[in-house]
Amino acid sequence: MKDLLNQLTIKEKIGQLLQIAPFFFIKDLKIEVAGPVEELNLNEEKIFNAGSVLGIGSAEEMMDVQEKYLKRSRIKIPLIFMADIIHGYKTIFPVPIAMASSFNPKLAEICARVSAIEASTAGIHVTFSPMADLSRDPRWGRVVEGFGEDPYLIGEMVKGMVKGYIGTGINHPGNLASCVKHFAGYGASEAGRDYNTVDLSRLSLYSQYLPAYKKALEAGSRLVMTSFNTIDGVPSTVNKFLLRDVLREKWEFTGVTISDYDSLKQIMAHGVAKDMEEVAYKGITGGLDIEMASSAYSNHLEKLISDGYVDIQLLDEAVLRVLELKRDCGLFEDPYKGASTKLAEELVLSAEHKLASLEVAHESMVLLKNDGVLPLSKTSKIALIGPYASSRATIGPWSWHGRRDLHETLEEVLKEQLVFCKNDVLITNYTDSDFEKIAFADVVILALGESEECSGEAHSKSNIVLPNKQDLLLKMVEKYGKKTVTLLFNGRPLLLQGLLSTNALLECWFLGSQSALSIKEVLYGKINPSGKLPMSFPRSIGQIPLYYNHLNTGRPYKGPNDHNVFVSKYLDVENKPLFPFGYGLSYSNFEYSLIKLDKSIMLDNETIEAKITVLNNSDIAGYETVELYIKDHFAMISRPVLELKQFKKIWFEPNECKEVSFIITKEDLVYINSDGNNVLEPGTFTLFIGKSSDQTISEHFEYVIKK
Ligand code: BGC
Repeated sequence: MKDLLNQLTIKEKIGQLLQIAPFFFIKDLKIEVAGPVEELNLNEEKIFNAGSVLGIGSAEEMMDVQEKYLKRSRIKIPLIFMADIIHGYKTIFPVPIAMASSFNPKLAEICARVSAIEASTAGIHVTFSPMADLSRDPRWGRVVEGFGEDPYLIGEMVKGMVKGYIGTGINHPGNLASCVKHFAGYGASEAGRDYNTVDLSRLSLYSQYLPAYKKALEAGSRLVMTSFNTIDGVPSTVNKFLLRDVLREKWEFTGVTISDYDSLKQIMAHGVAKDMEEVAYKGITGGLDIEMASSAYSNHLEKLISDGYVDIQLLDEAVLRVLELKRDCGLFEDPYKGASTKLAEELVLSAEHKLASLEVAHESMVLLKNDGVLPLSKTSKIALIGPYASSRATIGPWSWHGRRDLHETLEEVLKEQLVFCKNDVLITNYTDSDFEKIAFADVVILALGESEECSGEAHSKSNIVLPNKQDLLLKMVEKYGKKTVTLLFNGRPLLLQGLLSTNALLECWFLGSQSALSIKEVLYGKINPSGKLPMSFPRSIGQIPLYYNHLNTGRPYKGPNDHNVFVSKYLDVENKPLFPFGYGLSYSNFEYSLIKLDKSIMLDNETIEAKITVLNNSDIAGYETVELYIKDHFAMISRPVLELKQFKKIWFEPNECKEVSFIITKEDLVYINSDGNNVLEPGTFTLFIGKSSDQTISEHFEYVIKK
């Protein structure tokens, strides 16, 4: 690639670092000139030197753009096409927060595999996924795009996604290169408001927020997208500490860095650059390769280099990484790689892909409450009410290509059992005769939630209650003495106290193309729900940030019998969440024995085996996720009260009893300190194994380093 690099003019080199939308190439530029083209101040020469394209609709579009581009280009380096394929291309899978609830990274891999197969038929080569941002704040709209609050769970899901995208390798058609985002700490936006300031200690950054991005890179993500926020006051997009010290030096990352949409230019709004020339300077020296949707490099880098402010070496390094990515994606052999209308017709939305989406949806629901009303009997007559009764808007944000019109509604899949259906939320819109009809039903299913537009980018909320007082609908139905099953559609944890009196509560999130069918199969017990929460559900907004792996504090509150005043607690609400991390019910009843350790002292070079017997004390087969947490009692720094270290999702036949074994290695005992280094200290550890972060069996052991 160095030979190719040496053949490029400086303008052509700089062009490789520009990413723009496809319409720059395919529309009549004279028409566009009043719009975005003028805003970016890019002339035709610059446009036709650009290195990559953001977002593309179809194979025809991609081929058209590539052809026009190559015809005009002197050096004929193909464009590389990148897009946001987040939880499916046209076959839509559950939103990431839902997939995380499956505690099954294999499913994330399946989602990514299908996404890659479908999206590459449109000539897409890179997906801006996975999002590895950890968040402890459900007000942040983008929690829907992530995998929750725990670094280990996020890391495992992210690995699954990356593996699925890459498949047999990014050089083969049908596979995608992955761009992990948003580096770094974006999920810690203050007060959950999107794009807001982030103020993280180095310890939190290294130990909680960075590990999942690193796992994505280890799994093979070839690109890293910077985040909109600052770290230590410096926007991530030009943050040398992040992009050079951590990424390049500490983690030895050799792939491409790319800004988020317009985030390079935004460093002016952050107040760290006065004009676009300084923007370009800070970007290239800070460690940013590709500039997405702004034009500081295209308009200013050449002069900065010729005036001697920027070493051309920095430009060459960045361009080389882009060329290597294009080479590795096989674009020099076939600039149209993957794009095929014929293949798209064959593969996209195939029966096989829909089945895959259904299987992922099955495991992504979390049963929060069930007093025995579920599973429903086949003969039960149902009244179905609420804003999601006959809505098709259940695929969730970031489903650009998803076809809502093709999806079945709950009303459609349940029609044989329905005595009444009303797709409404406001109680004032219900008449007495509506409620009379409800009286003919054995059970009322309430399909409640937030709309798809309530979460996602730029969709943060200060109040995370169900909109439009939807819990009143439940109260109204309860007056008729009916059993109720409440289904929730939402992209973030909500405050659910108002729904606790319902007989069953099923968290459905947004389940994708097969939403309605998958829910029906859970309602009737064809599928036994097995999801667990990847984020804590608070009791009150004032508890946020709320997460299970917090520190103990010097004055820990010991629970309801602790009458000490001077402890860390609230006067008006418990410390604990309403539903904790890792929580989720099943139609089976899983019972855990005591833990057996093969030794109580673990020496430096040893491992410990922990065994626990889990009994499915029911006649219903199902999955149970057995969660393993560790607490490190004494160290140089205060350590969390619990940390998820491993989990196993296991299938149990009715009444089956299985011994589940975990091997604890030194890796499980290590922590990351504020210098970003791994530390392992001897001492007492407690192992917790159980069905959620607050329902565990524990056992202690010592880790000893022999002198
Ligand atoms: C989002 C990214 C996304 C990018 C490109 C930005 O606004 O923050 O997540 O990948 O746009 O569409």
